[in-house]
Amino acid sequence: QRSLLGLKGMDATELTSILDRAAYWDAHTEKQVSVLQGKFVANMFFENSTRTRFSFEMAEKRLGAEVLNFTAAASSVEKGESIYDTVRTLESMGIDAGIIRLKPAGVLQELAEKVNVPLINAGDGNNEHPTQALLDLYTMRRHFGEVRGLNVTIVGDIMHSRVARSNFWALQAMGANVSFCAPDNMRAGDIPQMRYVSMEEALQSDVVMMLRVQLERHASGMIKSAEDYRLHYGLTEERAARMKEHAIIMHPAPVNRNVEIDDALVESSKSKIFTQMQNGVPIRMAVIERALRN
Ligand code: CP
Repeated sequence: QRSLLGLKGMDATELTSILDRAAYWDAHTEKQVSVLQGKFVANMFFENSTRTRFSFEMAEKRLGAEVLNFTAAASSVEKGESIYDTVRTLESMGIDAGIIRLKPAGVLQELAEKVNVPLINAGDGNNEHPTQALLDLYTMRRHFGEVRGLNVTIVGDIMHSRVARSNFWALQAMGANVSFCAPDNMRAGDIPQMRYVSMEEALQSDVVMMLRVQLERHASGMIKSAEDYRLHYGLTEERAARMKEHAIIMHPAPVNRNVEIDDALVESSKSKIFTQMQNGVPIRMAVIERALRN
């Protein structure tokens, strides 16, 4: 059982072995292989997704697995069936692994203890999004050669961000220097080791990772307005011009253009945003293979 529930506690050796295997699949010229032929993988999304869902499906199909897609909105969840009963139902039908995205934080661990198939976390509340952080690390390693020693600042809505938490654990384990930048009401209170810096300091990092303002998770009034947020915490063209020559811009996407990042920067020469999405496929191939290999 090789579930991947989070990156907290995973050491550099294990993280590196996943990144190395992703590099193997990235370099693989054949579009489809039969490594997971006869294995059934269910994508169970209880919350919306574009990138994670489709890159998992690409990864599964590239490895030759049979893919089952479950979408909560078109399921008996709408009749009140629980997450546990849904996963047990698919398990009883014979799936070999489940990819799961959940709205609430804190239920995945319990769920994984009750079922026998490996589960891969595709994002659970504001807790963790391990495959996103892995693809982020992979993107940094490909660009800079190694992650150790990099100064990475994650900017924005840290409180609601599972991406920030997974990156924090993984970047620390890999020997990067991680900082955060956020308005007072968007800081995370659950991880005291997090170091906060000003926007000016953030701009001096090797990696400036912008986060989406998660308007759907906010209590009303958390931001004054999109313009006000952009003014104080947005990566504007003017701010990006003050970044280091070699530095890169990252963002897990989806992007609120002209809120946390200016439209013109999304596909600028410094931006790795679409490269991150591309790297999601080999990372997810490595993670699914790890879950299902004998
Ligand atoms: N980055 C990310 O998780 O995107 P989706 O919500 O579209 O999967």
